This record gives sequence, structure tokens and C-alpha cells, in this order.
Amino acid sequence: MPHHQTVLVTGGAGFVGSHCVAELVERGHSVVVFDNLQQGHRAAVPDEAEFVEGDLASPAALTRLFGAFKFDAILHFASNSLVGESMRDPHLYLHDNVVNALNLVQFATDNKVPRFVLSSTANLFGMPDRMPIDEDTEIDPGSPYGESKFMIERILHWADKVHGMRSACLRYFNAAGAHPDGHLGEDHDPETHLIPLVLDVAAGKRPHIEIFGDDYPTVDGTCVRDYIHVSDLADAHVRVLSALDHRSCRYNLGNGRGYTVRQVIETARAVTGRDIQVRIGARRPGDPPVLIASSERVRADLGWNPRFPDLETIIHHAWDWRRRNPDGYQTHPVRQLMAAV
Ligand code: UFG
Repeated sequence: MPHHQTVLVTGGAGFVGSHCVAELVERGHSVVVFDNLQQGHRAAVPDEAEFVEGDLASPAALTRLFGAFKFDAILHFASNSLVGESMRDPHLYLHDNVVNALNLVQFATDNKVPRFVLSSTANLFGMPDRMPIDEDTEIDPGSPYGESKFMIERILHWADKVHGMRSACLRYFNAAGAHPDGHLGEDHDPETHLIPLVLDVAAGKRPHIEIFGDDYPTVDGTCVRDYIHVSDLADAHVRVLSALDHRSCRYNLGNGRGYTVRQVIETARAVTGRDIQVRIGARRPGDPPVLIASSERVRADLGWNPRFPDLETIIHHAWDWRRRNPDGYQTHPVRQLMAAV
């Protein structure tokens, strides 16, 4: 792998994508962000990166993109990514996520891009009964969202076999936290993720957090998840690029430690010093009771070792971002400037 690379990051204006862009820029790579800004934020892309607004559904946009740059690697984040939404509108996921990825992989192989990293998901494993979940756990996607990611993993399998394009599929557990320096963070509309919602309550923006079910077979009856810091995910993406010269790979990315919804809320109370009101609601359809990763393989192969494994630190960074940017990227100076012109 050349020391300096030109990397295409699709969805680089989104939550995990923008943190990866920051990590790549910091390590001196040239980065091109391609994002349709449907969910992403222009203000999340640093000045050092080239920004191209466009949609993977458009072959014309991809022709222009691949005509303008020669990429050493692609990191693919652009995607619909809500489990619940995919249960209501499966074809949106099975069609858009897969067709967009197929377009991108086609351009990648036609242009002989040697490396490709996919943002994949723990939802690939559905509701496994044995924990922790390693790379040999049976794949049985829990939703059309997970299925769409699995289909893209298979597309990449054949792109390697037939065209020799090496790929890494990184299955994240629960991505959370924010950049430690507070300039990047989580800003979804609508927000559905637990930690930002809990922090909204702490900030006084929502009256309470609804716990989706307290009758699960866990220590306190609420669901257990493995929360992984977004900067640790970014670090794994940059590391895996070097490993891809040799072979394709798939890794599960988590801390190997589970926290219940109640434990998350309790930790958020401690970090913020604020009251957080709770209501108990019904189970959310499709939620597995427990998801905990085994990331032994990626630790052994890449020397990956999460820098921010503690839930307290993860929530602290998310809170720091929230306090500096109470309205998310809307409060960012670039956005304010754009709104003014
Ligand atoms: N939860 C609540 N109340 C809320 C929101 C969430 O109790 O208002 C609970 C959920 O039931 C779940 C936990 O908090 O038990 C975490 O929920 P999130 O929505 O934050 O995250 P999920 O575990 O549902 O899903 C996330 C990503 C998916 C990915 C999955 C893999 O959003 O893209 O992790 O584990 F597939």
C-alpha cells in the first residue's frame, strides 16, 4: 500500500464516515467525500477534504467522479441505515442500498481500484443465542437493512474472486460517542439512537426517554448492547487499508462488553449530572435482547485496540459535542454563514 493514498469516502458527511475522513486527513491522505447530503452534513467535512455532492444512483455522477480522480481505496458508508425503517419499507433497503453499492463496485472494478472497505453491521447476525458474536457466528440478518449489507458483502466477495479487488467488511456493533475534540458528532434527523436521545433528555430537549421493553431476559430486563466509540471505528478503517494488500477480510467491531439500556441511562446521569426521566414502553419489534461482539480477530490481525472502551468516556464525548453544538451541525459556523447568504 502506498504511504499516501487518494481515498474516496462515500457518505463521508455522515456520522461514522465523517470521523473516518478526519482520521484519514490527520494521517496525511488525500480524501474525496461523495455524499448526497440527504442525511449527511456539509459542515462535517473538513476543508482539507475535497467535497463532491452526488448520488450513487446516478451513473453520470459516478462517471464524472471516477474521471476526475484515481482512487487507491474506497470507504463505502453511504446507506440507509435504520433497522426499524427497513422493517416498514424493505424494498427501500433491498433496492437502494444494494443497487447503489453495485453501481459503486462496478465503477471501482472498471477503474481497477485495488481496495474497498464496507461499513457493515451486527444486524447481519440477527438474534444469535450464543455470545459473544465472532466472525464464525451464523449469518441470519435480523432485518432488510442487515440483509442489504450482507448482499453487498457477497457482491464484494465476487468482486475479489473475479476482479481481484480486495475488500474489508467491518461489522459494527453500536456506534456511539463523538470526536474527542468536540468538533464532530452524531446528528441524525430523525434521531432514533439511544445515547443521543438520552442526552437530549439531559439537555432538556425531550421530556423523557422511553425504554423499549423491560421484560427481556437480562440483568435488569432491558436490552444489552455493545457500544463502540466512533473514533475507534475510524481507527479500524484506516488500519485495515494496510492489511488489504494481502487479502480480503471481515471483522466484528465492538468492545466485547455489554450494557443494558438502564445502565446507559444511569451512566448518562452520572456524566451529565442531570436528571433523566424514564418511561417504560413496549418492546421495539426486531430488537435482539443481547448483542455483544468478539473482536479478537481484528485485535490479533491488525493490532486494533480501542482507545475509548469505557461507556463513561463514550457518553462524555457525545455530551461534550452536544453541549458545544446544541442544534447539531445547524449551529456550526459554516452552516450559519450558508444560511445567511
Ligand atoms: N432504545 C430504547 N429507547 C429508545 C431508543 C433505543 O430503549 O428511544 C433501546 C433499543 O431498544 C436497543 C438499544 O436502546 O435495545 C439501542 O438502540 P439503538 O436504536 O441505539 O441501536 P440498535 O441496537 O437498534 O441499532 C444499532 C444501529 C443499527 C445496527 C445495530 C447493530 O442503529 O444500524 O446497532 O447492533 F444494525
